[in-house]
Amino acid sequence: MFGSKLHLGAGILALGASFALPSAAAAQQARQVTFSKDVAPIFQAKCQSCHEPGSIGPMSLVTYQDARPWARSIKQRVESRQMPPWHIDRSVGVKKFKNDMSLTDEQVATVVAWVDGGALEGNPADFKAKPVATDLFWMGERDGYGPPDIVIKAPEQTMPAVHQDEWWRPVNDIPVTEPRWVRMVEIRPSNVQSRKILHHSIAYHILNPDNAGAVNTGVSTGGFALGADAVNTVTMRPQLMEWAIGKGYDRYLEGTGKLIMPGEKISWDQHIHAAGEAITGGSELGLWLYPKGQEPTKRSYLTFFSGLKAGAAGLDIPPNSIAESEGFNILRENTIMTNFQPHFHLRGKAMLVEAIFPDGRTQTVSYVKDFNFNWMTNYIYADDAAPVFPKGTIIHVVAWYDNTKANKSNPDPEQWVGWGDRTVDEMCHAWINVVYLTDEEYKERVAKYGEGVTNGIKPQSRTQQQQQ
Ligand code: HEC
Repeated sequence: MFGSKLHLGAGILALGASFALPSAAAAQQARQVTFSKDVAPIFQAKCQSCHEPGSIGPMSLVTYQDARPWARSIKQRVESRQMPPWHIDRSVGVKKFKNDMSLTDEQVATVVAWVDGGALEGNPADFKAKPVATDLFWMGERDGYGPPDIVIKAPEQTMPAVHQDEWWRPVNDIPVTEPRWVRMVEIRPSNVQSRKILHHSIAYHILNPDNAGAVNTGVSTGGFALGADAVNTVTMRPQLMEWAIGKGYDRYLEGTGKLIMPGEKISWDQHIHAAGEAITGGSELGLWLYPKGQEPTKRSYLTFFSGLKAGAAGLDIPPNSIAESEGFNILRENTIMTNFQPHFHLRGKAMLVEAIFPDGRTQTVSYVKDFNFNWMTNYIYADDAAPVFPKGTIIHVVAWYDNTKANKSNPDPEQWVGWGDRTVDEMCHAWINVVYLTDEEYKERVAKYGEGVTNGIKPQSRTQQQQQ
């Protein structure tokens, strides 16, 4: 909380400085912020796809009448950067993304000034409505990548109103008649109702024997599972996608992808949670393909980077406490990391991903400080900002948990919590897509963008820029 207040203070100061005004009141006098003119365009661009009738948000923010009763809550969520659900610390690590839905500092200031100024409507003639979508949508399509080429739907099942958590694991064929390369994937609930029961959905990939290259052998998770040969079972099991509440799509680094072949199947792993009403549904997977003749040369592997060093038994969260754990994952190959998606359950609070180079230098890759279980947001790095690390680098994952009553998501702070599949148990890992490079390719990438986290600017060229 303290951190976000500090951040907010800085935002207001910045606004005051750029307009050279002494106080928020003076700012309002100088420029009255209204819904119709200033706020509606922001809501349409950054909120409406979730906050319109029939979408996943709890209320509509389409019209002034819709939004006005929520003004206080809007200010609070926007100021603390809980909404839109983009919770990565923007001041450290990788800062350029393909799917950034966050508000700019200026947009945050506008929304806050609107609420502080009495949440006025302004002149209705200034309001230009944006059409409301009436059905489920693919986030990838919303973001301009067109509809998926193939949709694979898990057979629907029914979850009773009250029930223990269930794991639905049906199998589907992958309908291709020739090998094809996938460049983007998205899982979504198969209907509007099943948004309420689907907590996560993994599409495991049952391989054609010719597709053995889909097995990921490049990362060691430091003894996550029990037993020597089982060490990397979670990391190595091929999958087309992991999805959890709030996640969008995975779009791979340009020129990389996943190969699908005839005869292959999807084995679903859907975690279903009862929602107080019987709901029939499940999940579906959208696949966007590379056009024929433009096949990529590299595979992208979705990899589990553990936040534990002693396997599942290492997760130990006493009642009424803040706890911490860490994991060390070794890159056996030169590796580009192309996204970050922290995965926790209800006690998860923060996750840091840090690289420890073979020579001991460390670098922050990404940090989420306000994790919220409703939002397994996937932070997809821009192609030039995707960091590259030499083989032998250790990816250090540090996880913090809040098992006190201060954590609003906590169902019971009196409980001891350990590793487990149920929502009331805990987990702690980062889902990261990786691409492996030969030594030659590694040198080329470093020559272009620098080593590690550079946000696409090579250190030398940064110096040159400063000298100019
Ligand atoms: C990706 C979808 C998505 C986007 C984008 C999004 N929201 Fe939300 N919002 C939700 C969902 C789902 C909830 C309910 C779950 C939660 O509180 O996290 C929510 C909750 C809220 C709440 C809390 C309502 C309450 O119960 O008090 C506010 C306020 C809010 N959103 C405002 C906004 C604003 C303003 C924007 C844009 C600047 C925005 N949201 C963007 C999906 C979204």
